[in-house]
Amino acid sequence: MFLKSVKVLAAAALTAGFLGGAALADDEAYVGDASKGEKVFNKCKTCHTVEEGGANKIGPNLHGLWGRTAGTLEGFKFSQAMTDYAVVWGDDTLPPFMKDPRGTVTGTKMTFAGIKSDKQMADLMAYLKEATAASAE
Ligand code: HEC
Repeated sequence: MFLKSVKVLAAAALTAGFLGGAALADDEAYVGDASKGEKVFNKCKTCHTVEEGGANKIGPNLHGLWGRTAGTLEGFKFSQAMTDYAVVWGDDTLPPFMKDPRGTVTGTKMTFAGIKSDKQMADLMAYLKEATAASAE
């Protein structure tokens, strides 16, 4: 289901070795692996939770992220920069921000260098899409 979304992100990361020799053309992209993405998310965990009803920490809870407008989660005090940014978070809008937070949203108070590897980004996107959509038990 999220195959399409991560496809664009990691075309450059494609290696024949990684795909275990599967007969894919060169333009078939690496597909993000959610379990690897969970490890990438360790970089975000000090500041963010993903579960429904999870706490806001230094950064806002990320539950329901897909389809949510930037800077609108109730109960979290966003920077003016993020409030003004106001994009709808999703497959196209999240990677640029997570790759270079302060370059993408000038003035954001998210002090994080960014995820530079396309492959890690694809894994992180796969994980986030699942984890932020899961409902509480
Ligand atoms: C040092 C703490 C910190 C780290 C580490 C961090 N963030 Fe953030 N994040 C924030 C803060 C603070 C904000 C609010 C930014 C603002 O208001 O300008 C934010 C905002 C966001 C938003 C926008 C949420 C919204 O509702 O608009 C997303 C998405 C996000 N972070 C994802 C991530 C991901 C994914 C990672 C790891 C790759 C990460 N963050 C790492 C602190 C952090």
